[in-house]
Amino acid sequence: MQRGEKLYEGKAKVVYATDQPDQLLIEFKDEATAFDGKKRGTIAQKGVRNAAITAVIYRYLQDHGIPTHFLAQVSDTVLLVRKVKIIPLEVVVRNIAAGSFCRRLGWPEGQTLFNPLVEFFYKDDRLGDPLLTEDHIQLLRLATPEQVERLKTLALQVNQLLQRFWSERGIVLVDFKLEFGQTPTGEILLADEISPDTCRLWDASTGDKLDKDRFRQDLGRVEEAYAEILRRVTSSPAATPAERGK
Ligand code: TMP
Ligand code: ASP
Repeated sequence: MQRGEKLYEGKAKVVYATDQPDQLLIEFKDEATAFDGKKRGTIAQKGVRNAAITAVIYRYLQDHGIPTHFLAQVSDTVLLVRKVKIIPLEVVVRNIAAGSFCRRLGWPEGQTLFNPLVEFFYKDDRLGDPLLTEDHIQLLRLATPEQVERLKTLALQVNQLLQRFWSERGIVLVDFKLEFGQTPTGEILLADEISPDTCRLWDASTGDKLDKDRFRQDLGRVEEAYAEILRRVTSSPAATPAERGK
């Protein structure tokens, strides 16, 4: 696979063209930002770990019928994916109150939601990624009502699969963010990464935060959290906590 020109450089990833018009390479970086880029830093080994974590999770989701852009992991930090046009929505699924949900609605962190909640945010850093209603999405012509329904259905399916995936590894899936893209024929595929940068993951027995909140909130042991998630992702499912410790 020949690496072509750099198409886009984001805060945590670089996207390159390839010699195939319908395929891209995504390189994961160690750089981390939070609060729309106001906080910046580097998390050692994050690129390697997030690429590996994303690859395992995408394979799992694909094996369970979720259409994704993932094709292969081609090096430590690089994934080969199908080229899609990204829908500029961040689709967030929440199982437990945390983060902006608590700030907006005054709930205490850690309270379980009665049902999983799907929220849409406008992917626009200049505007601070604002929360959108479905009417806003129609008004801004970001997706059709049918596409919004499809995004919700897929997001909830991914939630069910990932809740099981993580719980078999001693992790509570608090919330996560997904992005979707469209192929030239209009097929909607799950795209972007799924990693501790884009999920809140709490240790099921200790409640320890094992995700980017350690960086956002200056909790320390940031690299260790990413390393622990990679270890659990690559450990056999349903291993008991005692076995996992070996
Ligand atoms: P929030 O509580 O800050 O809205 O975040 C919800 C989830 O989305 C959380 O798992 C972190 C993830 N997320 C991203 O992946 N990218 C972002 O830019 C933001 C704000 C959150
Ligand atoms: N990735 C986002 C940013 O830089 C926010 C976050 O993950 O908290 O700004």
